[in-house]
Amino acid sequence: MQFQYPKAVGLNIFKKAQMLFLPAFFWCGTQVMAQAKVIVIESLHNAIALEVRADKRVGLIYFGTKLADRNEYQKISPARRQSEDYSGILNSAYTPAGSRNLVEPAIEVTQADGNNSLDLQYVSDQTQQLDRHVSLTSIVLKDPVYAFQVMLYYKVYADDDVVEQWSVIKHTEKKNVTLQKFASANLYFSSNSYWLKQYHGDWAREMQPQEAELTAGIKVLDSKLGTRADLYQPPSFMVSFDQAASEDEGKVLLGSLEWSGNFKIDLEVDPIKNLRLIAGINPYASAYSLKPNEEFKTPAFVYTYSEHGKGNASRNLQRWARDYKIVDGNGPRLTILNNWESTYFDFNEPKLAALLKDTKKLGTDVFLLDDGWFGNKYPRNDDRAGLGDWQENKAKLPNGIGYLVKEAQANSVKFGIWVEPEMVNPKSELYEKHPDWVIKQPNREEYYFRNQLVLDLSNPKVQGFVFGILDNLFTKNPKLGFVKWDCNSVIYNAYSTYEKNQSHLYIDYVKGLYSVLERLRAKYPKVPMMLCSGGGGRVDYGALKYFTEYWPSDNTDPLERIFIQWEYSYFFPAIASDNHVTDWSKAPIKFRTDVAMMGKLGFDLIVSKLNEKDLQFCQQAIQTYQGFSDVVWHGDQYRLLSPWKNDLASIQYLKTDKSKAIVFNYLVSNRYDAGSKLPIQLKGLDANKNYLVKEVNLYPGTRSAIQDDAVFTGDYLIKVGINPVVNAGRASVILEVDEVR
Ligand code: DGJ
Repeated sequence: MQFQYPKAVGLNIFKKAQMLFLPAFFWCGTQVMAQAKVIVIESLHNAIALEVRADKRVGLIYFGTKLADRNEYQKISPARRQSEDYSGILNSAYTPAGSRNLVEPAIEVTQADGNNSLDLQYVSDQTQQLDRHVSLTSIVLKDPVYAFQVMLYYKVYADDDVVEQWSVIKHTEKKNVTLQKFASANLYFSSNSYWLKQYHGDWAREMQPQEAELTAGIKVLDSKLGTRADLYQPPSFMVSFDQAASEDEGKVLLGSLEWSGNFKIDLEVDPIKNLRLIAGINPYASAYSLKPNEEFKTPAFVYTYSEHGKGNASRNLQRWARDYKIVDGNGPRLTILNNWESTYFDFNEPKLAALLKDTKKLGTDVFLLDDGWFGNKYPRNDDRAGLGDWQENKAKLPNGIGYLVKEAQANSVKFGIWVEPEMVNPKSELYEKHPDWVIKQPNREEYYFRNQLVLDLSNPKVQGFVFGILDNLFTKNPKLGFVKWDCNSVIYNAYSTYEKNQSHLYIDYVKGLYSVLERLRAKYPKVPMMLCSGGGGRVDYGALKYFTEYWPSDNTDPLERIFIQWEYSYFFPAIASDNHVTDWSKAPIKFRTDVAMMGKLGFDLIVSKLNEKDLQFCQQAIQTYQGFSDVVWHGDQYRLLSPWKNDLASIQYLKTDKSKAIVFNYLVSNRYDAGSKLPIQLKGLDANKNYLVKEVNLYPGTRSAIQDDAVFTGDYLIKVGINPVVNAGRASVILEVDEVR
């Protein structure tokens, strides 16, 4: 983007005198002035340039496509002709509150002596090459008056054009300093207009997008829910510059905070029409008392920038997530048969033994036993009791989980299990024994979300208990093959009997959760785990670092899922998206299955109730899926037709060597004559290769409307495309596109 940065009062003379990298210090009046130094942080296509001004304040002067000549970042400052920035720090790399700042700060502190001011000045910077692709730039800033320091970190994944940015805050004052705000990242952009695409939702309505131009002032995206923090709004969003970016065109930043608790993202169009972006933990009710020498490390804010639209940006983020973030992102995944919607809490050993046989019959890899297997004094027969009592319910499972694991083995499938270890029903032995482990106000009436309360994970004893739930399961059943980790409740009445400082609770809760997950992953590094939170109430990279996959929504109506999965996919890769075929909707089984295949396929229906043809179709579908899942899981995703604007949605996955593509096409309109009128242009193929296009995953007894031996050049498929012949009679069509050698 065309970047112009705000003028620093009284500095123009130095800028005009052509700035060099040379740290040539000299005196000017009473101030030590220096020729500006520019710190350039580059990825494959992009750059961030930070200027260390003569007054030692660090400002962001460039964010965009990188310049061919690195020395030319020096020329950016003098080109600025915007109106006055009275503070001189509107573009601060990390805006401190209480000194000269006039706008939203990135950091706000109360010093040990009660003073509310902070100023941050440059001390040093360094860049380390961590490996061939990853570098880490750090910048040390210090307050000239107080012994207070902030380190800014920029971890650059060059090939993906992805940056993770965070800060580490520290002081050596004699007494504690209170951090009132502590952002992870503070960015600054200059453009003609800014377009925010944000998401809102609720249970079964995750990832509802809204896109609008940002106007002057501050727009805040935030959560104060504590746990299940994304229920109303996730910490993922995009900002386009100049105009709302399209799939393949336009300048766009995709960002997401890697934090599973309260977050706050400030987007402020400032008085000189630049955009200030501040992302971090929500400071709401979270003033943090920092001891001398203690380090406060903020979670990373991850972002990618592209000048080629949202599609390109999302492929960057997806690739990064597979390579660096989610567990085993380049490995295989297991297909699941889950019993939540088919039995709810109503099951017993013979019923489960039959479901294990059905798992084999269907052809999925793992049977996942959901909620309801535990609790004796207070059996978990509905969601009102038993949560917290992680012993097998003797009436339902007289021979325990061990028997089921063995039965699974006998059927050559794996056994997986549901847990919700962070939560407790008041009607439980755990609550009776350890009321002090529960987050609740001592002097107020209890208030419940799904009849349950949240355990106090800031308490190391509770952390030990939560770790023990999983550790016991694995120790007793080493062959346990899958875990679904659920989290259904928000935090009401936030109060901890453990915390000395109540305003630490929200933050220490999340840290406690991560420390449990860290311990688990150290001991069980590869076991597949699904991140679930009453649907998609917790889908963020802070947690996904410990998981192989996530549950996007309890809403498994395929029509709804097309939209939900479409939006999640901008931020998270298909390999991590658990999509189950259920009886939530009456849509034909083929439509439901085709939608679930666009990610990680699973089932949650009563196999024995499928009619012969539907069963045959599902069995074949799993085999078909196994044939192409590698492309969906590890390939690049291209969105061809948006369900928001067309009668149909079309999504393509392309193997990285361009030898194979899978194209999913779904009818999303029931208007008269709705369907694919024109060919759909494919993307990313090699124009010089020849490809055979054929329809796959046909329902038994049906024939494809596509000629099955047609060969096209990549050039043709990109420029003209292929018509999948989608209509009311063929509401979903999957095409396989194979290179012909
Ligand atoms: C909420 C989850 O989203 C569901 O899939 C299921 O596991 C229930 N919890 C069980 O209580």
